[in-house]
Amino acid sequence: MKRQNSLFADAAVVAEYNKLVTEIRQHDAAYYQDDAPKVSDAEYDKLRQRLEEIEAEYPDLVSSSSPSQSVGAAPSKGFKSLQHSVPMLSLGNAFESQDVSDFMERVRNFLKLPSSEIVEIVTEPKIDGLSCSIRYEKGQFVQAATRGDGASGEDITENVRTIADVPKMIEGEVPDILEVRGEIYMRRDEFAALNAAQEKTGGKIFANPRNAAAGSVRQLNPQVSASRPLQFFGYALGQVSEPIAETQDGIRKKLKSWGFAQAEPQAVCVSVEDILAYYRDVEMKRPDLPYDIDGVVYKVNSLAYQERLGFIARAPRWAIAHKFPAEKAVTVLKDIIIQVGRTGVLTPVAELEPITVGGVVVSRATLHNEDEIQRKDIRIGDHVVIQRAGDVIPQIVEVVLEKRSADSKAFDFPHQCPICDSHAVREEGEAVWRCTGGLICPAQAVERLKHFVSRLAFDIEGLGAKIIEEFYAEELIQTPADIFTLEERDKGSLTPIRKRAGWGDLSAKNLFESIEKRRVISLPRFIYALGIPQIGEATAKRLAETYLTFDALRQAMRACADSEGDAYLALLNVQDVGESVAADLVGFFAEAHNQKILDDLLEQVRVEEFVPVVVGDSPVAGKTVVFTGTLVTMSRAEAKATAEGLGAKVAGSVSSKTDYVVAGADAGSKLKKAKDLGVSVLTEEEWAALIRM
Ligand code: IVH
Repeated sequence: MKRQNSLFADAAVVAEYNKLVTEIRQHDAAYYQDDAPKVSDAEYDKLRQRLEEIEAEYPDLVSSSSPSQSVGAAPSKGFKSLQHSVPMLSLGNAFESQDVSDFMERVRNFLKLPSSEIVEIVTEPKIDGLSCSIRYEKGQFVQAATRGDGASGEDITENVRTIADVPKMIEGEVPDILEVRGEIYMRRDEFAALNAAQEKTGGKIFANPRNAAAGSVRQLNPQVSASRPLQFFGYALGQVSEPIAETQDGIRKKLKSWGFAQAEPQAVCVSVEDILAYYRDVEMKRPDLPYDIDGVVYKVNSLAYQERLGFIARAPRWAIAHKFPAEKAVTVLKDIIIQVGRTGVLTPVAELEPITVGGVVVSRATLHNEDEIQRKDIRIGDHVVIQRAGDVIPQIVEVVLEKRSADSKAFDFPHQCPICDSHAVREEGEAVWRCTGGLICPAQAVERLKHFVSRLAFDIEGLGAKIIEEFYAEELIQTPADIFTLEERDKGSLTPIRKRAGWGDLSAKNLFESIEKRRVISLPRFIYALGIPQIGEATAKRLAETYLTFDALRQAMRACADSEGDAYLALLNVQDVGESVAADLVGFFAEAHNQKILDDLLEQVRVEEFVPVVVGDSPVAGKTVVFTGTLVTMSRAEAKATAEGLGAKVAGSVSSKTDYVVAGADAGSKLKKAKDLGVSVLTEEEWAALIRM
C-alpha cells in the first residue's frame, strides 16, 4: 500500500473523512447517551469500517479525537449498580373509598387499637416521576441511586448532583448517615418546552413528563442531565444513623428545613372522612398543579406505629397510594385477536383505532376473557370507552351503545388455539380457555422463553421479545439451555448472527457477552425465571429463603408428591403458599419434560446458594415459634410479622422441633402439648423481653 501524507489526501477524501467522524460521533451519542440508536448495528459497523480504511491509508489524518482513538472503542453502556442499605419499596393501591376504610381497618387490627383511638394519617400528593434515594454522610451529598428492583438500583450520583433542587450540603444538626428518598420529576411546562426544543434539534421526543424525567436522569453523560429541567421532592427516609423525628410529619418538616422541596398540599388527617375530603380537594386541584400526580399517598403518622406495622412483600403496611380514576377516551374496536400466554391461556385482545389517552397512544387493550366480552356485550365495530391507569394495560370500560352500528359483529370465542390448532378447553369453574397443546404449542414455549430472559428473571440484555420470537421460529433457541449454547453453535454456523439483517459484529458480541454474564444466577431469580404458574417474584424469594439451594427445593418438591408427608406440610408453611400455589409447584416439578429442561439448563448455569440476611443478633433467629391463645399487646398478624422479621419461623402447630410457644390467655391444646414435649413456654411479656434483648 502506498503511504501518503494527509497533505496529499485529496479534498474529497478529507471531506468524506470529516463527515464520517461527525456521523459516528452522533451515532455514539444516540446509542450510549440517549438509549436510542438511529441506525442498525450493521450500518454503524460499515461507517466505522470505512473510517478505519481511510485512516489506514492516510495515517496523518488521524487525530486523537477520532472515534477510532477513544479508549475501549466506546463508553461502557449502563450504570454501576448500587445496593440499597434499606430496601426501596413500592406502595399498595386503593381505588375506592372502601379501600381506604379497609386500609385504616387493617392498620387498627394489626396494631390492636380500639376504634375509639385516633390514628393520625399524613396525606400528600403522589408525584408521577421516578423515585430516587440520596445518601448524605456528615451532611455531604455522596451518592444517589434509582429504585431499580428495590434491593439495588443504578448509580446516578453524578446526574443527580446536577439537580439544583437537591441540597449538596446540609447545614445544622444532621445524622452522620442520612438517606433521603423522594421523586425526581419534571414540570409540565418545562416538559413541553423540552419536547419543542428536542423537535427542533431532531432529538428524542418524550411521551410524558415522567418518561422525560426518567430519560433525562438515565444519561451516561451528566451534562445532558444538567441541561434538563429536573426537580426533586423529598418524602421519606432510607438509612439514618439516628432518628430525626417521631412522626412522618416531623420528617417532612425536618426535610423542609434542610432545603428539600415538598409537594403541596399536605395534611395530617384524623379520620377516613378527613382523608377522603383531602383526596377530593387534591383531585380538584390536579389540573392546576404544575406537575403530574397520579393520586395521593396516605402514611401512618407515628413512626413507632410504622415500625410495628412493618412490611408485607414489597409494600409497607403503614402506607397506601389512593389513585385517581384512570383517564378515559372513546375509540373504535377494529378487531379482536387471541394471544396465547406461557401457561396456554387464550387472552382476547382488542385492536383499536389508535387514540391518545393520558399522553400515550393506545392501539390495543386487554379483554381478559370470554365472559368479560359477553358481560360488556362488546362487538367488533363498536365505539368503546377505554381507560389507562399508570402502567396498567389499557382496558375497555364499556360500549357506547348509542353509537352501535347495524353491522357490528359479535365475537365467537375460538375453541382452538390460534397458534398450534390444538383443542382449547375451559375447565369447570374457570374463566379462561386454555390451549391443550402444551409442549407442542410454540406460543407457550416462546412466552416462557420471554419470561425467562425478562428483567426480573435472567435479565439478558439484547435478547428482547422480538429476537426471542425470531430465534425460536428459526430453531436457534427452543429451550432455556439453548440460550447458553448459542454462541458455541453460532461459531460453526453458515449464517452467524452477526451476518443477519439488523445485526453486526458489535451487537452479536454484546449479546454473547450479556448471556455469559448470566451463567451464575441467584436462587430467587432462578426460581422466578422458571415461569411456574402463580410463582411471582415475592413467592420465589420465600421459596429461596426456605430451601436455600435449588437442589433442596427440587428434592422437596418431589417429596411433596405425598400430600400427607412432612415435605408437603413444610411447603404449606412457606409464606404466600397455599394449596393452589403448592399444586402448581409440585405439578411443575413432577413433569418429566420440566425435569429434562432443568437438567439441561443446570449443565449451563450455576444457581447460587441463598444466603439469608443475618437479622442482627436476634436470639430468635432460626428458631421455630408458635403463638397460641389470645394475645393482648399485639395482634396475631403483628406477632407473626415481627417474629419473621427477626428471622424466626412461625409455625401453626407444636412439635418437638418447636423452640418457643408464646401463650396468651385461654391457651388450650397447643399449650398442653408444649408442656408435654418440654418446649419452652413464654408469656407475651417474656416474649417481648426476649426479642428486645
Ligand atoms: S412513599 C415505603 N410518597 O410511588 C414507601 N411514594 O407506587 C415509599 N411516590 O415508589 C414511598 N409520590 O416512587 C411515597 N408522596 C409519595 C410519593 C411516592 C410518589 C412513588 C414512589 C413509589 C411509588 C409507589
